[in-house]
Amino acid sequence: MLILGIETSCDETAASIVEDEAKVLSNVVVSQIDIFAEYGGVIPEVAARNHLEVMMPVVKKALADANKTWDDIDAIAVTHTPGLLGSLLIGTLTARTLAIIHQKPLYAVHHLKSHIYANWLNTKKTPEFPLLSLVVSGGHTQILKMSAHNDFEIIGTTRDDAVGECFDKVAKILGLPYPGGPAITSAGKNGDSNKYKFPKPNVENLDFSFSGLKTAVLRTVQKELNLPISHPSHDLKNHLSSQQVADFAASFEKTAVDYLLSKLEKAYAENPETKSFVVAGGVSANELLRSETEKRLPNVFFPERKFSGDNGAMVAAAAYFEIKSGVEPTDPYALNIMPRSSIA
Ligand SMILES: Nc1ncnc2c1ncn2[C@@H]1O[C@H](COP(=O)(O)OP(=O)(O)OP(=O)(O)O)[C@@H](O)[C@H]1O
Ligand SMILES: [Mg+2]
Repeated sequence: MLILGIETSCDETAASIVEDEAKVLSNVVVSQIDIFAEYGGVIPEVAARNHLEVMMPVVKKALADANKTWDDIDAIAVTHTPGLLGSLLIGTLTARTLAIIHQKPLYAVHHLKSHIYANWLNTKKTPEFPLLSLVVSGGHTQILKMSAHNDFEIIGTTRDDAVGECFDKVAKILGLPYPGGPAITSAGKNGDSNKYKFPKPNVENLDFSFSGLKTAVLRTVQKELNLPISHPSHDLKNHLSSQQVADFAASFEKTAVDYLLSKLEKAYAENPETKSFVVAGGVSANELLRSETEKRLPNVFFPERKFSGDNGAMVAAAAYFEIKSGVEPTDPYALNIMPRSSIA
């Protein structure tokens, strides 16, 4: 079965052709990172406009790279939620129109499901059920339980910021570029990860909180520089030495990773029948998170790095398992494929 997966939930315009659940025949991603690096974050209207400009060329290239035509395609899958509204609209309207023109079944896929299914791409060894998934991205931080394909239960979620967002905001305080995740890792390479101690947010059960950690970094930087808490955060970078930036980056990264894993370990203790652990989302590219998860938990899976951020291949893989689970296609004329809030 050949599925065209389309993804436009944030600032990547992506399309991919995937055979069944795993064989990626093409993977085209046009990122707007260079545009938003200047602003330190995504501007929704600008993102939507850019999606519109490159959407069809990206779909055409995905078909050409896979050496396939519309006749070969069995289904179209598209991210329908969650994400930026204007960005999602471009992807869903494109997918709906293509489904009508080319008479293909349409699957509207939840973005976090897709991040999890990135772990099935281009690999023979696949996760075993029941599994626990740690989804760590720019907009989400969740622990989900999967007893079988297409069967998701959220057992922990962030009460405020997502971990990726926290990496991005801490990077901004330290004067590092957007996106913050990779920038923090490289700045922290020569840093002392034990130099600064940040309290881990005290949230009961399996939920997370990251806004407190971001504020803890801000206050510690101000204290270290002998500046008052009223001192604007955007100016702190002008007072930090490169060694201080390295130490703050390394100490923050260590705290964030340890906090994520302490919750995942708690989830394992509560679900001892778990057979594998699946880490997903943009932050799953993080080296320290990868090595620490492997040290602390058994049978751990990460997506290939090129599939950890947003891409169309993971959308196609998620749709494949929806089809196998008997999910009916979406009516491309219906208007109700736009954002729903829960994973479904
Ligand atoms: N090596 C890394 N270490 C830590 N964080 C990283 C790394 N690489 C990317 N990130 C972070 O991943 C985030 C982007 O991930 P992703 O593209 O999955 O998020 P999103 O699609 O914007 O959000 P969501 O998937 O929740 O809708 C950014 O916050 C970025 O800083
Ligand atoms: Mg994403």
